Parts: sequence; C-alpha cells; structure tokens
Amino acid sequence: MKNKIILALDVKNLGEAEKIIERFSGSINIYKVGPFLFYRSGWKIIDKLKKQGKRVFLDLKIHDIPNVVKEGVKIAAEKGIDFFTLHISAGKTALREAVKEKGRMKLLGVTVLTSLSQEDLQGLGWKYGEKELILRLSGIARESGIDGVIAGGREVQMIKQATGGNFLVITPGIRWSTSPLDDQKRVSTPQEAFSQGADYIVMGRSLILDAKATEKLQKLENLF
Ligand code: C5P
Repeated sequence: MKNKIILALDVKNLGEAEKIIERFSGSINIYKVGPFLFYRSGWKIIDKLKKQGKRVFLDLKIHDIPNVVKEGVKIAAEKGIDFFTLHISAGKTALREAVKEKGRMKLLGVTVLTSLSQEDLQGLGWKYGEKELILRLSGIARESGIDGVIAGGREVQMIKQATGGNFLVITPGIRWSTSPLDDQKRVSTPQEAFSQGADYIVMGRSLILDAKATEKLQKLENLF
C-alpha cells in the first residue's frame, strides 16, 4: 500500500504539509502537491519531499497551448517529478509535445473531474455522456503516448479493458465509505478502486482529517 496510495497534500502551507508527511511517513511513499501548496510554497515542498526519498506527484492539471504545456513538462521532468498531470482536452498536439519532454516522469491525463456530475457535464455542453467521454479522452491520451489517466473508481475497469493493461489508471474521489458527503460526486472506497484494477489511489481529506487514518491504512495493508 505504501507505494499504491498517493496522499494529496491539499493544505495551505509548508508547516502543515511537513506535519502530515511526518504523520504518514511510515505508511505512504507518494505525495501529491497541487495548487493549494504549490502556489504558496513553490518548489520548496518538492525539494523537501525528494530529499526524504519520497516520490512526488505534481498535480497542476495543466491545460494550455502546446508550447506552454511542453515547457511546463520539461521543467517538471528536470526537477525530478515522478508524476505530472495535464488535461487531455488540451488536445493531441499538446499531449504529443508533452510526451517528447517527459523523460522518466509519468504523464497522467485528466479525463473528467470526479467532482462533475452527469448534469454538470450536460450544462457545460459536452455532447457525450460521462462514460463515453471518459473512454474517448482515455483513447486520445493512449494514442498520444500519455502513461495513464486519472479516473473515478467506477470507470477503472472500462478504461483498462479499452486501453490495455499497462496504461495506468489513478483514482481519486476515495472515501472510507461510499456516501458522497462533500464536493466529490463519484466516490469509491479503496477496496472498490483496487478491486476494479486501479494502479494507484489518491486520498486527501479522508486521510488528513481522519484521526484514525493510519490505523485504517494498516487494516487495508492487511487486506491486499
Ligand atoms: O480530499 P480528496 O480525497 O477528495 O482529494 C482528492 C484529490 O484528488 C484532490 O487533490 C484533487 O485535486 C484530486 N483529483 C480529483 N479528481 C480528479 C483529479 C484529481 O479529485 N479527476
């Protein structure tokens, strides 16, 4: 589990992040830095994680023109980032440019944010249903040389079937139980996501805000 669960460091400052890393250092090896932290503390947190031998997932979900995407990916790869995200809807040219610069870094495409419901998608004007959209975007990512996608637990199996085994699927929207109590609309439990075939799961608030999280992780470790 240590190398399968990614902890989302969605906190606002370096001090808070350091406390969390210390709290989970025995149970988690991969840490995700998103806009919360990166816009405040920049590369400091990344350098600290790297010095401690942790793997780093830089989740800036870049969505821009090909030249900007390419330069962003190049810098992240030079900095030793292990996983980096970009929106597949940036288009094939941007994805291919990104692949040229990625080096050993894994590039992960965002299909449909797990906070969006079918109704939200329709409101945004997407003409395809959620599942079809996810499959189309995953196919485009695969063809362009992207290493994998971010997708909800319920979509994992379908993506794996459509794209083949070595295309990674990383699943956020994880909760210890399946009642959608907050902004995530498509949630699943760690057990569900892994049994569907997820390669990694991303957990933020359900680890950070849960006083019993390390015990729950230990129980999970015993299950797999
Ligand atoms: O706190 P929670 O576990 O809901 O956090 C989920 C994390 O996964 C957040 O850091 C969010 O940015 C990320 N994420 C997501 N949905 C996606 C891609 C990433 O929730 N499709």
